[in-house]
Amino acid sequence: PEIPIIAIDGPSASGKGTVAQLVAQELGYYYLDSGALYRLLALAAVGRGVPFDDEEGLARLAEGLTIRFEGGEVWLDGEQVGDAIRTEECGNGASRIAAYPRVRAALLDLQRAFLQAPGLVADGRDMGSVVFPGAMLKIFLTASAEVRADRRYKQLMGKGMHANIKQILHDIRQRDERDSARSVAPLQKCADASLLDTSSMTIVEAVDEVLAWFQQVC
Ligand code: C5P
Repeated sequence: PEIPIIAIDGPSASGKGTVAQLVAQELGYYYLDSGALYRLLALAAVGRGVPFDDEEGLARLAEGLTIRFEGGEVWLDGEQVGDAIRTEECGNGASRIAAYPRVRAALLDLQRAFLQAPGLVADGRDMGSVVFPGAMLKIFLTASAEVRADRRYKQLMGKGMHANIKQILHDIRQRDERDSARSVAPLQKCADASLLDTSSMTIVEAVDEVLAWFQQVC
């Protein structure tokens, strides 16, 4: 039988990661944070001195990466990464390198390898459109830019990181623009995805809505 997949796509800081993790926990499914892979690649590129405009070099780097997710922690080439990939700098770097077709292709198999029984919840930008087009349930989870900036600000402050709300809103708008305008796997709601606008929803409400939709299709 087919292994169920819930694909949750949406813009940065929409809360899709938190919602996806909680849905996976609730169902006892595996969880793929695909953005973490792009962030890891950006971090590795900085560490190895590969410039963000070197598509060739970035793709080769992506093909050679040894990435493990274990107990909610990310390991890159045998070293625990921790919150180093959660900085805005890393997010912006990820968004730049994610525009390259060769980089995306290099990360495809790695993402699909997360699909295991009893099921998978995957979040990102192109889970429903490119990586798992056959997903049982596809959701486009979003919120207004202001609400997302506020959520990202609180998340960074909670981690004791430096944050400036105006700068975050500016970065979010710029990232939306870049992620939506690129020619490969642009950020957009696919025709068969359900729209979930969480601007005035709590996390619990959003999780319950996803679970209710899932009950309807499985
Ligand atoms: O989701 P997150 O903010 O961690 O992703 C960081 C960046 O990685 C995004 O801005 C986007 O450009 C890129 N990304 C992508 N495709 C995915 C996940 C993330 O292009 N499936």
